[in-house]
Formats: sequence, structure tokens, C-alpha cells
Amino acid sequence: MASRGNFSSKLGFILAAAGSAVGLGNIWKFPFEAADGGGAAFVLIYLVFAFILCFPVMVTEIAIGRKTQKNPVGAYKALGFKQWQFLGILGICSGVLILSFYNIVAGWAIGYFLEMIQGNFEIGNNFSTYTAQIWKVGLYGALFMAITAFTVSKGISGGIERAAKFLMPSLLLMIIGLTFYAMSLPNASAGIAYYLVPEFSEVTFEVVYNALGQAFFSLSLGMGALITYGSYVSKNDNIINSAAWITVTDVGIAFLAGLMMFPFVSYLTNGTMENFTGGPGLIFATLPGVFRSLGETLGIIVGSTFFLLLSFAALTSTVSLLEVPVTYVVDELKISRKRTVWIVAGLIFLLGVPSLLSNGYSGFFTNFVTYFGAISPTSFMTLIEHIGNDTFLPLGGFLITIFAAYVWKKNNLIEELVQGNEQFRNSWVRKHIDFTVSYLCPLMLGFIFILTFLDRFFGISVF
Ligand code: PHE
Repeated sequence: MASRGNFSSKLGFILAAAGSAVGLGNIWKFPFEAADGGGAAFVLIYLVFAFILCFPVMVTEIAIGRKTQKNPVGAYKALGFKQWQFLGILGICSGVLILSFYNIVAGWAIGYFLEMIQGNFEIGNNFSTYTAQIWKVGLYGALFMAITAFTVSKGISGGIERAAKFLMPSLLLMIIGLTFYAMSLPNASAGIAYYLVPEFSEVTFEVVYNALGQAFFSLSLGMGALITYGSYVSKNDNIINSAAWITVTDVGIAFLAGLMMFPFVSYLTNGTMENFTGGPGLIFATLPGVFRSLGETLGIIVGSTFFLLLSFAALTSTVSLLEVPVTYVVDELKISRKRTVWIVAGLIFLLGVPSLLSNGYSGFFTNFVTYFGAISPTSFMTLIEHIGNDTFLPLGGFLITIFAAYVWKKNNLIEELVQGNEQFRNSWVRKHIDFTVSYLCPLMLGFIFILTFLDRFFGISVF
């Protein structure tokens, strides 16, 4: 059998997995959730969740992948639990669904990059018209998918790892540069205060729940992306140490994104921070206005760097999302990687077309469903997001920890983690993982899954 390929080094794996983690979520979601959820208080809760709850899930996924050297479906079979293959299928479905709409937003990022280098800052005022120009955004979406597919088609070390080795350091340089620049602008401190001054009264149950959901999504957990990447990791690598680096990088970049974004908004609003909303609107509608106000030359430099940064962050994530179904097809159906990649990417792009149409172009897809008890309709794209991100990921994470602790059994997990890390056997980290994977993770993730499901689809909210 042809070799599946491998990461050529531990650093290569860390960069690729950190690339999967660092994505659109870090840049447009984290800063606003922090600002709305009590500033530094939110950051603290987020850190606790990332290291206490998500880190054990991450090492579990990597361990299952490395142990079996298989895709998420094949992995459960290889461990001797054929009945659990459904969990791998669930993961692949999550990856396919998420990629179908994530790629469209990534296409907007590339499109905006191209507008910025031409100095077209007006685009910000026309964001909703922009997303409805389906031929244009469709083309950028296709372009983004093609770049993703090209990278994945070159294999693990020659494609994904190589790209990550270039993209991740560039991304880091760009975000550090932009952060310094943003902090030097007038009124920057008001922006930082808005972002970080702790307000414990804002920390409601809902905020805590959002923090966990965001940490989980941001670390790319619950769908087997890390089972897949883990299956290409060397037996001599120290999984605990790699996972720690991945988590630190992801959290660090999210934190920096806030330090960059709020001074920009504060500069635009003269320190009042009034009239701006988070999410896509801020990135695609407000920020171009900030760049315009810097003057032509600086605006072009800062604006195009920003959207290039966003595109790089998205690319290392789309690559990991595509790799999950690709590894599955290559492993199980023994079709060549090159052919698989283009077919799978093409199909996922087609699946994304209704999402593409659901941002203003087609009334049918824009107002696609009205959930029970909801007042306004939800677009097709948001529906897919609710199913893929919000429902399948926590469900997948819940089941993965149940599987590892009670079906595969903890000792086997620990043995895999000891490979390449002898000290782990008697460390406190081991005790921590032992405990969280058995009790805390299933409990919390099961809880999140049920709450989200009831909230999204039945309008039953406990908040
Ligand atoms: N972690 C990525 C982000 O924050 C999204 C992602 C989720 C990528 C799951 C891969 C798998 O944008």
C-alpha cells in the first residue's frame, strides 16, 4: 500500500494544527465575545476552559489518530469498535458542513484583499450589496476552495505542513505589526479599556456557555480534525507538549486580535466606541472605513495586510476541514489523493452554493426556515452553522470523551500519551486528563449540546 505520508517534524505538526485552530473564529468572534462578556473576566474564563476542558479533548483526539494512523471512521474500527464508526461519520459530516459556508466567508476575505490593494475603501459601505453579487463572491469562493484543494493535493508534508510553515509565521508577523500600529493610533487606550476592563457583573450563565462553545470551536475540536492530523504524527513526538503549544498559539492570537481590533474601532469613533456591531459587519463594513481614514497610502497598506491576514488564517483552517473527508476517502476507498481532493472539494463547493445565495441574493435561501418559537427566519447559511458548529461539534466532543474513557478505556489513552513522553505517566497532567476526560468533559459537553440544541431549534432558552 502506498504510504499515507507524515508530518516531517514536530514543529510542522504544531504549525499545521495551530493553523487549523487559528481561523476566522479568532479574529471576528473572540474579541467581541470578550468585550460583551465582561472583558478580562471573559478572557480568564476562556483560558480556564481552553486549558481545563478543551486541552484534554485535544490530546484525546490526537492520541486516537496517532494510535490507529487512520481517518476518524477507520480509527474506531481499528481500535476494535466497529459500532463507533458512526462517530467518525458524524465528524466528517461536521467538517463538510462547516467547510461549505466557511469557505464563502474566506472568499469574501480574499475579495476584500483585492479591493483594498486597489484602494477601494467604499466597499465597506456596500457590504450587503457585495455579498449579494453572487457571480463575484462565487468566483472568490471557488478560488479559495481551489487554493485549499491545491494545498491538500500536495499531501501532508509537501502541502499542508509546507503551507503552514509559511502561513503561520507570516500571520504572526502581520498581526503583531497591525497590533502595534493600532495601539499607536489616537484613542487606542479607550478601545483597549472597552475590550479588557473586567466587569464581573456581565458574566452571566450565557456568557460562560458562549466562552466554552467558542473555545471548543476555536480549537477545532469535536469533529476529528485532530484525529486526522494526529494520524500523521510520529510515535516519538510528545503529544502533551504539542497540544500545549497549539492551545497557547490559538489563545494568544485570539487575544492579540482584540488588541488590534478595538483600537481601530476606537480611532474611528473618537474613543466613544458607539454604533458598531461585532461579527462580519465589523470586519467587512466598519474596518474599511477605518482604513480609509488613515489616508490613501497607509490605508492601502494596513487594509490589505488586514485582509491578507484574515485570508491566511482562514486558509490553514479550510485546509484542515478538507483534509478530514479526504483522508477518509483515501484510506477507505483507496483512491489517489489528487483525484479525491478535487472531487471532494468540488462537491463541498456545490453544497455551499445555497449558503452563497443566502446572503441577500435569493429570498428563499436568505429567509430559509423559521424555527419553532422564533420571530424571524434564519438563513440557509446560519442553519448550516447551527447544525455543523453549534450542534455536531459539542455532540462529537461529548461522544469522543465517552468513547475514550469508557469504551476504549483510559489506560489505553494514557499508554498512547506516554509514547514519546515517559514522564507523563506519573505527572499531575496525567491525573488532570484522567479526571477531566472521564467526568468533567462528558458532563459539560453533553450539557452544552443539549442547551444549544433546545435553544437553536426549539426556541427553548434557559438564559
Ligand atoms: N478553529 C477554526 C476557527 O476558529 C475553525 C475550525 C473548526 C477549523 C473546526 C477546523 C475544524 O476559525
